[in-house]
Amino acid sequence: MSDERIPVAVLGAAGYIGQEFVRRLADHPRFDLRILGGTARRKGARLEDLWHLDDPPPEGRANQTLETLGPSALQRRGIRAVFSALPSGIAGPIESELARRGIAVFSNAADHRMDPEVPLLIPEVNGDHLRLADRRPAGRGLLVTNANCSTTGLVLALAPVRELLAPKTVQVTTYQALSGAGLPGVSAMTITDNVVPYIPEEEEKIERETARIFGRLGDGRIAAWPGRILAQCARVGTRDGHLLAVTVEATRRPTRAELERAWTDFDPLGREGLPTAPSPPVLLRREPDRPQPLRDRWAGAPPRARGMAAVVGRIRWEAPYLRFFTLTHNAVRGGAGGSVLNAELVDRRGIALTAGGADG
Ligand SMILES: NC(=O)c1ccc[n+]([C@@H]2O[C@H](COP(=O)([O-])OP(=O)(O)OC[C@H]3O[C@@H](n4cnc5c(N)ncnc54)[C@H](OP(=O)(O)O)[C@@H]3O)[C@@H](O)[C@H]2O)c1
Repeated sequence: MSDERIPVAVLGAAGYIGQEFVRRLADHPRFDLRILGGTARRKGARLEDLWHLDDPPPEGRANQTLETLGPSALQRRGIRAVFSALPSGIAGPIESELARRGIAVFSNAADHRMDPEVPLLIPEVNGDHLRLADRRPAGRGLLVTNANCSTTGLVLALAPVRELLAPKTVQVTTYQALSGAGLPGVSAMTITDNVVPYIPEEEEKIERETARIFGRLGDGRIAAWPGRILAQCARVGTRDGHLLAVTVEATRRPTRAELERAWTDFDPLGREGLPTAPSPPVLLRREPDRPQPLRDRWAGAPPRARGMAAVVGRIRWEAPYLRFFTLTHNAVRGGAGGSVLNAELVDRRGIALTAGGADG
């Protein structure tokens, strides 16, 4: 790992996740954010005029303008890694072309999540899946994706207790915030006084991505986790933070104290010192009415890891059924923050951004 910061770009910088990337990368100790990429209609627009997040744009960035650059222009400008907040469908070919040109991609989009050679990564859970990238041909950029925003919350909350419970089935019902739909968002007439029990493709993503992340890597392939996952998803009128109601049907019988200890002791990245890693990554709340989006979406410490922790509460264990609620910030832990953490893990492990190239 060299001391020099790595030149990076954000693609889709005008969008909700793109802006969250800018907020998290503006003063990052390892990544040097040089380019904000957008569509032609955003070319020359000032960041401040597009800004939708709660705090103002990071210091010194308000006047930075968006540029419209393709993979070859990014390569010419010396960009070594791209943080992609592109819409699914559009992202796929652009990310492939970036990787082909030797630029690493840390993506939020769904397009490459199930590609056999692409790690679908949650660093606390399946860092070993990064080995999938070992077989990249020389000159190719690393491509790493994060999971769907609800999948990330489910996996983080389940990971500490999964071995103890050996689940047969996991049922999850989601209450998903408006920002999960990106900008400009769900129309006020649709969501005011309403709950919409349908988010296209969401249930399928949760089911297949959870099975892949919990899957075992062997022989360069992942054998999907055999537990059954049954998801139901709804859009609700909160701004940020996806709340999940989870019921696990267990085949083992740990005590409640063992389950609680597994959650509170869980801190697999504790010693790695990654800037965006929350320590601990899962927080237990014992009040009868937590977690709540408004009160718990920013859980996570140190300050750079705000919004990166999953909060678990309302735990009920009546074997064989464990029930709990969990909450994660969809745009932070389930979005830009998750991708930045993926990049920090890659950097810390000294995995080459370009196969056959220098570390970094
Ligand atoms: N929102 C979440 O909570 C969340 C969580 C996890 C993952 N994701 C994923 O993250 C990605 C971004 O989501 P989002 O919520 O930020 O959506 P969004 O607010 O709609 O933002 C997408 C942005 O991409 C820009 N764009 C489209 N084509 C482009 C191109 N060829 N080059 C550069 N920019 C381009 C759009 O430009 P214009 O502004 O000009 O239209 C828009 O600003 C999606 O793949 C989504 O599935 C989202």
